[in-house]
Amino acid sequence: MAQDSFGIRDGEIAVELPESFDASLYFIGRIRTPWTRREDCPKNARESDAICTIRVDERWAKALTGVETCSHLVVLYWMSRSRRDLVLQVPRHYGVGRGTFALRSPARPNPIAMSVARLLRVDGTRLSVIGLDCLDDTPLLDIKPYFASTDAVADAVVGWHAGRQ
Ligand SMILES: C[S@@+](CC[C@H](N)C(=O)[O-])C[C@H]1O[C@@H](n2cnc3c(N)ncnc32)[C@H](O)[C@@H]1O
Repeated sequence: MAQDSFGIRDGEIAVELPESFDASLYFIGRIRTPWTRREDCPKNARESDAICTIRVDERWAKALTGVETCSHLVVLYWMSRSRRDLVLQVPRHYGVGRGTFALRSPARPNPIAMSVARLLRVDGTRLSVIGLDCLDDTPLLDIKPYFASTDAVADAVVGWHAGRQ
């Protein structure tokens, strides 16, 4: 667990983590955002219009070829300050216990977060975007083009959330 990862609430359940990892990954850059404290951070990608900067490591510069033509990107990032052992969570703003895989909480076995962000500008290996919800300096895992034609599912439902504001 990360040294400064967040605690556990009443009603939450943690499990023992596996002894070893099954795979490794590369951080390909860092995400610079205005937020250094969890309480200031947006809860989801649409909660803030703040401009954030994705800084891709120079090594991967050529991998950005063509990205400037995209209006929106799927951004995957690593929630480095999350605990990874929770299976049942009680989000503060809902107050009801739900399984980790029914939630978008950053606390999960592999703390991979995703957001669809609007691309404003590409300056070399720096991408300016709107639509991220992570703390400053969060590690970047991947960038993919968002295809509205295949990624958008107009009739998708999250039953437990239906009817909430
Ligand atoms: C609910 S998650 C949603 C993340 C992503 N949009 C998703 O759906 O996968 C966003 C929250 O994660 C927390 N968070 C942001 N950056 C983090 C980091 N580097 N490590 C751990 N938690 C983080 C903040 O509390 C933020 O409000």
